[in-house]
Amino acid sequence: MPGIPAPTPADKFSFGLWTVDWAGQDQFGSASRPKFDPVEVVWNLKEIGAWGITFHDDDLIPFGSTEAERGRILARFSQALQESGIVVEMVTTNTFSHPVFKDGAFTSNDRRVRRFGLAKVLRNVDLAAELGAQTFVMWGGREGAEYDVAKDYFAALSRYAEGLDTVAQYIKDKGYGLRIALEPKPNEPRGDILLPTVGHALAFIERLENKDIVGLNPEVGHEQMACLNYTAGIAQALWAGKLFHIDLNGQKSIKFDQDLVFGHGDLLSAFGTVDLLENGFPGGGPRYDGPRHFDYKPSRTEDPAQVWLTAAANMEMYLLLKERAQAFRADPEVAAAVAAAGVTELSEPTLAPGETLEQFLADDSAYRTADPDALAKRGFGFVRLNQLAIEFLVGAR
Ligand code: GCO
Ligand code: MN
Ligand code: MN
Repeated sequence: MPGIPAPTPADKFSFGLWTVDWAGQDQFGSASRPKFDPVEVVWNLKEIGAWGITFHDDDLIPFGSTEAERGRILARFSQALQESGIVVEMVTTNTFSHPVFKDGAFTSNDRRVRRFGLAKVLRNVDLAAELGAQTFVMWGGREGAEYDVAKDYFAALSRYAEGLDTVAQYIKDKGYGLRIALEPKPNEPRGDILLPTVGHALAFIERLENKDIVGLNPEVGHEQMACLNYTAGIAQALWAGKLFHIDLNGQKSIKFDQDLVFGHGDLLSAFGTVDLLENGFPGGGPRYDGPRHFDYKPSRTEDPAQVWLTAAANMEMYLLLKERAQAFRADPEVAAAVAAAGVTELSEPTLAPGETLEQFLADDSAYRTADPDALAKRGFGFVRLNQLAIEFLVGAR
């Protein structure tokens, strides 16, 4: 049996500054621990074996800071990055905390707010490029509504597209190497959020002028809040060439956004996710090779020292699942069960190479002389295969 694996920078684990630095304030209670100094966060992440850090503009530079304060904070932070070797792989913008954004940023009914939000985002794009980030995440948590009669959804989607296309065009005009990753979420803080799931966001991206540099940052818990399968969601994003970034965490069923440690929610689903990320599709196809980014919250019950144990737990869960998923795929009995289940047969195109539609329709064996009752007799053995997966997951094999 494997021991507890130790993360290294090669694993490309990254954390949001807002994750480990969450002080525990929630809807019903105030902060349960003090915030850390961002420089201390950089060094602690280094200490536990992480590779990268990400942040919202306001996590690092408090909203309303003067230019001089902003410069001082950035200089100090950049120095810590340089000395520690921790990289900034992604930057995102806070367009949800300040009450000005109570009806959204890009989709607020108030045009002055939309212009303010757009300017805040563009300014942060410059910072992201300056720090060498590859991804610019956009989570529109306030882009939504509580009341159908209070929002023109057609206009809201048009303004959302206008805003995103403007940001993407700015990135191109400046020659920045950034890609935008939209983060879907069904609800919370708004009653309903626009682009609620991976599927909605993928369809929306197709309508953008600058769709080539816009993709997704799906979060485990957000898909699960919508009762959807995260692994299937990122699989479809990969299929569409749009999996630009990931937010890993844990969620137990349909309820408020829990942001638990990765694997502390639906463990079997987390196994499927790591299996896909590390082993790829069984029949080949596009792979995700970006950061393994955690967007979780250290539970409010934890003290400052325990916060770092919760951060380490995310990486440990990932590496344990990676080892289990690799052992699963390398096992001959599993390979036989995979083959018996027809998993790899699915990669074979349904039409023969070069077969025309006319030839297909003329093939009597496809339909006219086919015996569906005989075909229906095949047992696929999916349960056996899944049982093997669970036996590997729990360490029985
Ligand atoms: C959430 C979201 C946010 C976003 C982050 C990036 O928990 O609802 O995950 O944490 O990921 O704000 O913009
Ligand atoms: Mn979340
Ligand atoms: Mn997230």
